[in-house]
Amino acid sequence: MARKIIIDTDPGQDDAVAILLALGSPELEVLALVAVAGNVRVTQNAHNAMQILEVAGRPDVPVYIGCERPMRHPLITAEYVHGSSGLDGPTLPEPTTPFQTQHGVDYIIDTLMAHEPGTITLCCLGPLTNIGMAIVKAPQIVSRIKEIVLMGGGCFEGGNITPAAEFNIYVDPEAADLVFRSGVPITQVPLDVSHSMLTTKARVQRFHDMGNRVGTVTAEMLEFFERFDEQKYGWEGGPLHDPCVIAYLLKPELFKGRHINVAIETASELTRGMTVADYWGVTGRAKNVNYLRSGDSDGFYALLFERLARLP
Ligand code: RIB
Ligand code: CA
Repeated sequence: MARKIIIDTDPGQDDAVAILLALGSPELEVLALVAVAGNVRVTQNAHNAMQILEVAGRPDVPVYIGCERPMRHPLITAEYVHGSSGLDGPTLPEPTTPFQTQHGVDYIIDTLMAHEPGTITLCCLGPLTNIGMAIVKAPQIVSRIKEIVLMGGGCFEGGNITPAAEFNIYVDPEAADLVFRSGVPITQVPLDVSHSMLTTKARVQRFHDMGNRVGTVTAEMLEFFERFDEQKYGWEGGPLHDPCVIAYLLKPELFKGRHINVAIETASELTRGMTVADYWGVTGRAKNVNYLRSGDSDGFYALLFERLARLP
C-alpha cells in the first residue's frame, strides 16, 4: 500500500525536484500539491507546480492554491535565488488543466478528515502558513496527521536568509511555532542536512545525460538554481534542500538524527524564525522533533537518478 502524501510547496527549483522524486516513486501516492506563498507569490507557485506536473506527464495530480501571505508578517519572496518566475532555467510547458477551486487549507482539512487517522503524511517544502492555518481552523486534524516531514530551519549551519534563520521558517515563524507546538510527529530536514547535498557539475551532467525530458529539465533548473549558493558560499554546486524530504520517506537510512526539542523564535527581530534546536538536551523541554543532523549525499543522488530516470 503506497504511503499517501500531500506536498505543500512553493516551487522553487528544489521543490520541483522533490515533486519529481515523489512522482517517480511507487512507494508514495501523491494526493495533491498545495501551493503556499514563499519563493514567489502563491499563484505563481501553483502555476509552477502545474508546469512540473506537465513535464512529469502527471497533469492528473490536483493543484490547490493555499495562503497568499504569512500569518503575521508581510510576505518575503526569493526571486533573487529562484528567478522572477520562481522556476527559471528551463522552458516549461504551459499547464493543460485548471487549478482546483477549493482553498488549499480547506483541502488539507477535508482530506485529513475524510481519510483514516494516521494515514496521511504532510510533506512541507515551503513556509508553514497553510499547515498553521489548517490547525487554527480545524484543531481536530492534529491527531489525524501521520507525520509532518518538513524542510526548514537549521542549527549547526545557522541560517540562510539571516544569520539565525532559514527562509521557510523566517517567512512565517508564527505558523512554524504552531506546527512545532502541535504535538504532530515531525521530522525536520534542516540546512545541517541540505547543505551537504550539493549539485556538483558531475551530478548535473548525470541529469543532462539521463536521456529523458525530466532529466534535461532538472539539469537546466539546477544550473540556474545553484549559482546563488555557489557565489554566496564558494561551493561547487548548490544545496538541494527539498528533495531530502521525499528521500527521507523513501530511504530514511540515508539520514542520521535524534529526537530533540526544537522551539521557534517569534518575538525577537534579531533572531526571528530561528529554530532553537536543543541538540544536547540542556533544556529539559519535551522532545517534539525527529531532527536530522546529516545525510549520505552519494546515496541521495543515486536515489534521485534512479527515480527520475523512470519519468518521461
Ligand atoms: O531555505 C531553503 C528553502 O527555502 C527551500 O524550501 C527553498 O525552496 C525555499 O523555499
Ligand atoms: Ca521550497
